[in-house]
Amino acid sequence: LKALAPNFNIGVAVPAGGFGNSIIDRPEIKTIIEQHFNQLSAENIMKPTYLQPSQGEFFYDDSDELVNYAKDNSLTVHGHVFVWHSQIAPWMQSFQGDKAAWITMMENHITQVATHFEEEGDNDTVVSWDVVNEAFMENGKYRGEKTTDDSADESVWFENIGAEFLPLSYKAARAADPDADLYYNDYNLIWNADKLDAVISMVNDFHNNGVPIDGIGFQSHISLNSPDISTIQAHLQKVVDIRPKIKVKITELDVRMNNEGGIPLTYLTSERADEQKQYYYDIVKTYLETVPEDQRGGITIWGVIDGDSWLQTWPEPTIEWPLLFFNDYTPKPALQGFANA
Ligand code: XIL
Repeated sequence: LKALAPNFNIGVAVPAGGFGNSIIDRPEIKTIIEQHFNQLSAENIMKPTYLQPSQGEFFYDDSDELVNYAKDNSLTVHGHVFVWHSQIAPWMQSFQGDKAAWITMMENHITQVATHFEEEGDNDTVVSWDVVNEAFMENGKYRGEKTTDDSADESVWFENIGAEFLPLSYKAARAADPDADLYYNDYNLIWNADKLDAVISMVNDFHNNGVPIDGIGFQSHISLNSPDISTIQAHLQKVVDIRPKIKVKITELDVRMNNEGGIPLTYLTSERADEQKQYYYDIVKTYLETVPEDQRGGITIWGVIDGDSWLQTWPEPTIEWPLLFFNDYTPKPALQGFANA
């Protein structure tokens, strides 16, 4: 892939276990990465629970190994993630303190981690960060904001700091790493207008108040042919049209083949594999046609081989074929679809 578009970020999430596990433990995975991709995301090991497992104690062994591997192979890294309600260590989840103490704790995590990966000069390996992940609910309210039915999803950040946690995060990230592109990242933005509009109004608010933000990340965990391509186009377009301009990145693309509620596929037929090829083609083509060059953050696939995909176990155990490579490390038709676009 990467040979087809040298100036375009074509990323992949690197599967990684827990502490002490080698990050890229299979040579076949390395071969695929080096042949096809020019950017990596850490699927898990740069999340708060991995980087700050106890308060004030930072664990960088695994992530440094990943970043050094990237550097050695002329790849960049998209950092994922500073502030999220999920995958935070127990100590952080149950942190005791008033609003000011929460702000200090949050800013400290961002500052420490961003500073650790920041390099002198302009040849950073970590070129961008998801600063905040998933701060909005499907109805466009902040996650953690109490609604009348009191069914709000929880977020320690909103609950302890309020909406201010968002601009404060971006300011802390910019101060610690002035060169990195700072993204807001979320799921369902590619089809849910209420949620996307809430994010866009946050960005406009940032712009009006001098808060730094460089792009929006569309996670894009989607299903075959849903959303349809015109919806994807319209949603990318809305972000392209923000002024001043920001970047648009597809950060976690995978395409589920077993649509919820349908009869589960037990093996991937060549017909379905070709449908997936077409859908990948349409998505990449639409991205390239909609997002002008200076606003392209790139496209990242959320994993290398199907068998490693988080969708095998989430939200429940199921067989899935969402990615670009089969379990024997050979390319799927979907890879050709991406390449053709
Ligand atoms: C997922 C990983 O893929 C899984 O391995 C882990 O168990 C849970 O998190 N949105 C995100 C990602 O921003 O960090 C999530 O990654 C998938 C959804």
